[in-house]
Amino acid sequence: MCGIIGILGKHEAAPILVEALKRLEYRGYDSSGIATVKDDGSLDRRRAVGKLVELQDKLVFEPLKGKAGIGHTRWATHGEPNEKNAHPHTRGAVSVVHNGIIENFLTLREELKCEGYKAVTDTDSETIAILCSKFIDEGDEPLVAARKTLLKLSGSFAIAMLFEGQKNLIFAARSGSPLAVGYGKNEIYLGSDALALLPLTKKVAYLEEGDHAVLTREGAEIYDIKGNSVSRQITYLNQSINFHDKSGFSHFMEKEIHEQPIALERAISSYLSDSTGKPTFNLLKKINFTEVSRIILVACGTAYYACYVAKYWIEKLAKIPVEIDIASEFRYREPPIEHATVAIFVSQSGETADTLAALRYCSGRAEKIISIVNVSTSSIARESDEVLEIHAGPEIGVASTKAFTCQLAVLLLATLKAAKDRAEISSTDISKTVNNLKNLPAILNQYLGNVNSLKDISYKLSTTSDVLFLGRGLMYPLALEGALKLKEISYIHAEGYASGELKHGPIALIDDSVPVIILAPYDNLFEKSISNMQEVIARKANVIVISDNDGLREAGLKSETSIEMPKADPLLAPLIYALPIQLLAYFTAVFKGTDVDQPRNLAKSVTVE
Ligand code: G6P
Repeated sequence: MCGIIGILGKHEAAPILVEALKRLEYRGYDSSGIATVKDDGSLDRRRAVGKLVELQDKLVFEPLKGKAGIGHTRWATHGEPNEKNAHPHTRGAVSVVHNGIIENFLTLREELKCEGYKAVTDTDSETIAILCSKFIDEGDEPLVAARKTLLKLSGSFAIAMLFEGQKNLIFAARSGSPLAVGYGKNEIYLGSDALALLPLTKKVAYLEEGDHAVLTREGAEIYDIKGNSVSRQITYLNQSINFHDKSGFSHFMEKEIHEQPIALERAISSYLSDSTGKPTFNLLKKINFTEVSRIILVACGTAYYACYVAKYWIEKLAKIPVEIDIASEFRYREPPIEHATVAIFVSQSGETADTLAALRYCSGRAEKIISIVNVSTSSIARESDEVLEIHAGPEIGVASTKAFTCQLAVLLLATLKAAKDRAEISSTDISKTVNNLKNLPAILNQYLGNVNSLKDISYKLSTTSDVLFLGRGLMYPLALEGALKLKEISYIHAEGYASGELKHGPIALIDDSVPVIILAPYDNLFEKSISNMQEVIARKANVIVISDNDGLREAGLKSETSIEMPKADPLLAPLIYALPIQLLAYFTAVFKGTDVDQPRNLAKSVTVE
């Protein structure tokens, strides 16, 4: 989704801005632009539709001078992705980049029009520039005008502004969308994503909700929502990230799929120790689950399917009722939340707007707010009572892979801790599951060493237009995730269904053109899955069964219509079966030639509702 960069530097800003925007590319965007204050004090900008290379090409023919600048990657919300709608929006003495949505922009636009200030774009963002420049026209100093502008805006936003004649000033504000200030030596930076600032500085301060900041090369003055001068904690980024390093893989998604064994090992060992021979869970120590009457799990996208798996685990092992919901639905249905409820929010980025809003709804209502995130400095993490980092490492591919399995590992450990608190699980079963979990990275490593056989099936999938994924029990959420992965990156229509639900509608779709992928480990539900398989075979579907050796023998399928998985503890099957569904989607997308890492219309971090 949209990205913001700002720089007050010692060198020409344009090349540095473009490089920084490249580090935001992974978030998903459709146009980009930069603006600077030139040495003569005038504002200038360059904008381009499509990938950043288009902007770079433009800058070759029309260079942009100036050491103070702002940049933006736009993911269109209001107005199609064209140059006119791309940021920065410049009006009079003001240039603005904006993430989020100005919800009252239509009203403001009408008011401004009546005063002779007509909009020229289709965006909500332009209203900010028009409003601020109107205040300057009326005689206000830039900072006064910017502060007056903020008071008029409603919605969610992160903003950066440059002003004509001000070569040492960026005005920034945060209300709903993240912003971090980066400190350099006689230089200062601004970023919607601290990672984008990494090569420039490791020293950052995150603005809090309602903050605005006045940046100069000498430092940043930060003010809270009431206008009081405040200091925000300085954080030193310890992550390193190389946005060019695919470690020999063709795409970040492929690299991240193959990183799962090591990421899982990291995630598991962070929360598990057994030096005394008895497993100890180093998480949620302050929560006694005997006192918890309900758990709510809320998330979006792939993280939501991780919650779905966790519901099955928690209800079965810890015997606590679990409610799961998609964040965008949860927040508006105003569910009652009784006190003994633990609310868990799962988010790779920790910045998803709906998940954050759902968390805020539960704050003060639920007993405890827990977040499971990949970014420990994110907004969701900072507003939680307890944060469980998944330790997946930076995930660049838009389609989530290693974050999903690491979320699952942390959720399973939390489940075991809850089951142990409530004495619902024997110590023998805990030890058995923990041992199996510890062996998992090695099993996955071995599996990933021999995945070429998936390519033939993927090739066939790439020639179809509809695919069904079926699963029962723990495999049902995996079927949903498999369908999501495939549609996200290959643009093939795919649906996931509970196998038992097939006869209630989806079976009508089946004919010989529809591949049906059945996730069926050889467990207590296997026979039922195979009955469903027979129903679709009878209707001439192309069935592909993903199962272990025993399962495939029972199913009696030929190798070209089956995918063999390692034998595993049924409880851990979601962590293993995630791999073939990710790989099928990946290879299919590669055969189709789609943009695997940055699929059309999608964003990595969805910071608008
Ligand atoms: C977007 C991404 C998905 C992700 C979802 C939730 O849709 O493309 O991959 O699962 O957001 O993101 P989060 O960061 O909250 O896990």
